[in-house]
Amino acid sequence: MAFPQTRMRRLRASPSLRGLVRETDVRCGQLVLPLFVTALEPSGVQRAGREPIATMPGVDRLSLTAVVAEAQQAAALGIPAVMLFGLPAEKDEHGSGAWDQAGIVQLATRAIKQALPELLVITDVCLCEYTSHGHCGVLSTGPRPPHVENDATLELLAQTAVSHARAGADIVAPSDMMDGRVGAIREALDGEGFSETPILAYSAKFASAFYGPFRDAADSAPAFGDRRGYQMDPANRQEAVREALLDVREGADMVMVKPALAYGDVIRAVKRATHLPVAAYNVSGEYAMVKAAAAAGYLDERATVLEILTSLRRAGADTIITYHAKDAATWLAEQI
Ligand code: PBG
Repeated sequence: MAFPQTRMRRLRASPSLRGLVRETDVRCGQLVLPLFVTALEPSGVQRAGREPIATMPGVDRLSLTAVVAEAQQAAALGIPAVMLFGLPAEKDEHGSGAWDQAGIVQLATRAIKQALPELLVITDVCLCEYTSHGHCGVLSTGPRPPHVENDATLELLAQTAVSHARAGADIVAPSDMMDGRVGAIREALDGEGFSETPILAYSAKFASAFYGPFRDAADSAPAFGDRRGYQMDPANRQEAVREALLDVREGADMVMVKPALAYGDVIRAVKRATHLPVAAYNVSGEYAMVKAAAAAGYLDERATVLEILTSLRRAGADTIITYHAKDAATWLAEQI
């Protein structure tokens, strides 16, 4: 049957009717708030222990004290999880700050878990914030131009993940894109008594321009070259599915697609192929675009953010990592 018997507008006539047939919902319980915690005393402070990030309005680099306060706010809004990124006091060639038991992420994890035992702490496992050259692994030595050594990096990532688990991390999330890292991390965790700690693998992480603001925030831009030797080509969906399936085989408990907004097809394909919980990372550049357009008066921020989050759920994401999480939690609560 077609028009005039069929009229699609019948079920759009009122908020209740639309609600009755809505296919997709976003719940606060699906959101993860990323936090930047710094060992350097935050400077240019308007509020104690906080340094605004110019390219990410509304997001601050946080001191150890401030990160606990921020986590507390998130928890009070009903956000179930935070994801930690660290800015160490010092960097070196190997990124040794990443697995330092007294490193900034380890300290922050302990402090948050002590204050808020129910709040999930997810840690980003990567070396790029800790290496002097800004790459996500150790560099080769020798005659060839320097490149990131895959196998030598695995051990360092595994050590980093174990140090996070030891500090109390609920989930570890490797974002380096080395081959074999999920298996290496699983084995190391199991060997150290952390067989219950889940791995959220950044399985399909693309070499994306949308990470620009994050690299300002975390001071992690590569000093030379780019990340295309390990992060994925944005043109490839099949390869993303392969990456995800390999991570499943190596023991990933959840997989991630990153960025999110321009990658809905990848989210869908990965969900279909893995049957695992899939997280979408609504990254810094996606956040910055919305904030800039909203500040200029070009977009309605609230409506835009809720539409974006809904679209990621519709694409197949179970969990959404987003810098909008606090605002979204407030808006979602108002909606009901
Ligand atoms: C670390 C890492 C990055 C992001 C998350 N983990 C940056 C990168 O790969 O350069 C990006 C997150 C964002 O843009 O919000 N490897």
